[in-house]
Amino acid sequence: MSRFPLVAVALVLAGPAVSDTFEEVKVSAGQTLFEGECKRCHAVNSDDPSYGPPLENVLNRAAGAYPDYDYSIALEASGIVWTPAALRAWMEDNDGFMPGTKMRHVGIEDRTVQDFILAYLTAISPQDNTAIDGE
Ligand code: HEC
Repeated sequence: MSRFPLVAVALVLAGPAVSDTFEEVKVSAGQTLFEGECKRCHAVNSDDPSYGPPLENVLNRAAGAYPDYDYSIALEASGIVWTPAALRAWMEDNDGFMPGTKMRHVGIEDRTVQDFILAYLTAISPQDNTAIDGE
């Protein structure tokens, strides 16, 4: 077995900013959780096939705004923006938060799990949607 992973871990731990390291750990835990809970329906790369809308750049995107995706009326007409708080509420109880959505119920109530998935969703949202006016 190669020693590379150990070296990589040592390098990460020796990094200057502990907070950066913590953020990386959150993102990577979030990715694992996302792969278990969300990825079967949601591509992160917009070019990949996706049953639900792709979630690349979802942070602060207007709900129902992914081009050409066939959203439920409930979601399309909701008028909300996917802020961290809205994403938390969605993960916790999406069909309670938005009756009529066609996304099957997910019930992620653990705040830490929500934190991790949020960190990952933030990492896959390089585009600053708050700068987009009316799109
Ligand atoms: C069984 C398939 C499935 C799973 C699992 C799933 N989703 Fe969804 N998701 C959907 C569908 C379908 C929609 C579109 C809902 C609508 O139009 O009402 C959606 C919509 C969304 C939206 C709204 C996006 C937009 O463009 O407005 C977000 C955010 C979202 N899902 C996040 C998640 C997260 C985070 C997870 C994992 C915790 C997850 N979903 C798990 C199928 C799924």
